[in-house]
Amino acid sequence: MKLTAEQIQSNWGIFLDNIKTHISGNRGEQLTNFYKRYEERIILMPAAHKKEYHSAFPGGYVDHVNRVVRCALKQYEIWKEEGADVSTFTLEELVFSAINHDLGKMGDKDHEAYIPQTDQWRRDKLGEDYMFNKKLAFASVPDRSLFLLQQHDISYSFNEMVAIQTHDGLYDQGNEKYLKGFMPEQRPRTSLPFILHQADMLASRVEWETQWLSKFSQNSVEKPKKAFNLDNNTKGAKTKNKALGGIKSEGLKNMLDNL
Ligand SMILES: [Fe+2]
Repeated sequence: MKLTAEQIQSNWGIFLDNIKTHISGNRGEQLTNFYKRYEERIILMPAAHKKEYHSAFPGGYVDHVNRVVRCALKQYEIWKEEGADVSTFTLEELVFSAINHDLGKMGDKDHEAYIPQTDQWRRDKLGEDYMFNKKLAFASVPDRSLFLLQQHDISYSFNEMVAIQTHDGLYDQGNEKYLKGFMPEQRPRTSLPFILHQADMLASRVEWETQWLSKFSQNSVEKPKKAFNLDNNTKGAKTKNKALGGIKSEGLKNMLDNL
């Protein structure tokens, strides 16, 4: 999948607008300044370095984050309607967590995490346009997201920390300590982490479907060759017809069709 230059530009405008609309005061300005500082890098970043993951194309990161913000606001309404106590967090905390949940994917302040693939074989055979930058020391995406925020003096609340840290839900075993507590007092005191996780899951599933699902549709799956046909077999050897007429296997018939 490819985004046009206009779509990439428009997505960037929406990204900055989300900050302006939802992140208040000095923190809003700091966040805008942070993203403007790294604008060139972030605007074209993919959301992943492997094409099998979601949105691994130029501009895929911002496209994904905008979708997560949108889905998070919709999820918020569903959870509220169903009786979740939404007074335990603020809308600003929800949107701040959504905007920054994958920030660690940008790498650190000096190195991008995803750089152009240099192995031509992997480009040609595996369709990988990106590879992980080995100059970067390992850190999980949520850890790096939180580190980058504190490194640039952007404060975050306890709720935001837990939401960003656990946004992959139980897909990341490390989150079990937050999400699998059996004692009531150990469970999250707010639904924010669950809302963000559901928003992220919805967004990335839709992105995967957009990019991959049609590849498995009826029309795109390779059709079997026309089965061996006794009537229109132009090679017409009667003995062959006689010998092969009783074959039930479609695969074998197709193979024999080429004899
Ligand atoms: Fe995400």
